[in-house]
Amino acid sequence: MRLILLGAPGAGKGTQANFIKEKFNIPQISTGDMLRAAIKAGTELGLAAKKVMDAGQLVSDDIIIGLVKERLKETDCANGYLFDGFPRTIAQADAMKDSGVTIDYVLEIDVPDDLIVERMSGRRTHPGSGRVYHTKFNPPKVADTDDVTGEALVQRDDDKEETVVKRLTVYHNQTEVLLGYYNKWAQSGLPGAPKYRKITGVGPVEQVRDAAFAALAE
Ligand code: AP5
Ligand code: ZN
Repeated sequence: MRLILLGAPGAGKGTQANFIKEKFNIPQISTGDMLRAAIKAGTELGLAAKKVMDAGQLVSDDIIIGLVKERLKETDCANGYLFDGFPRTIAQADAMKDSGVTIDYVLEIDVPDDLIVERMSGRRTHPGSGRVYHTKFNPPKVADTDDVTGEALVQRDDDKEETVVKRLTVYHNQTEVLLGYYNKWAQSGLPGAPKYRKITGVGPVEQVRDAAFAALAE
């Protein structure tokens, strides 16, 4: 299974990625998680990326494309892969196509903007694994603690309301165009074209998971 998850910030890409990667036994390639790991490690790239991320803007295409290429080289892709948060611009999508990274499915998770801020403000993440919780919608078994490791959960620096609003604007201006890009490619019938599936991300997490699994079985 080789797929891309598309959707606005807070649509639930990370949440659903955790279910999908387990079901298909595939690696999750999340450029957001990779950048946050670089910030935590204090690398030069991390320091530069942090400023951009905290401003709600996109990190440059060159940096992101380089990171993904490196990651693919060192990852076991025997069963496929799941991209979460990449590609995010036409340049990234073209680079992916040109380097021969094939895709079976593009899965769009659709959530209206007015639900996003509440999702972000309650989000808590486990930095080590990328597992995602929500204080109200998807609470951990013990408050502020990861279910699997028992380690502390953290709040993301870019989940402040003004940054979330900025990220949504950037999504509509730079990333949403990819919905049409992949839809058109899927409909072209050309060899190697992916299948395009759209599900609603509104509803309980398990209901969205079941819709995602059903979409990926068609
Ligand atoms: P990234 O980490 O990719 O963030 P994002 O795309 O903005 O998406 P999020 O991680 O915020 O949301 P999500 O869809 O994963 O939702 P989640 O499952 O967590 O990128 C961060 C930054 O890095 C970017 O702004 C940019 O600067 C940079 N970057 C990353 N990739 C880049 C690239 N390719 N190019 C350039 N720059 C890049 O869910 C959100 C919350 O909602 C959680 O609390 C969750 O528990 C809850 N929730 C999930 N599902 C439901 C549900 N069904 N009902 C109720 N609540 C739910
Ligand atoms: Zn995410």
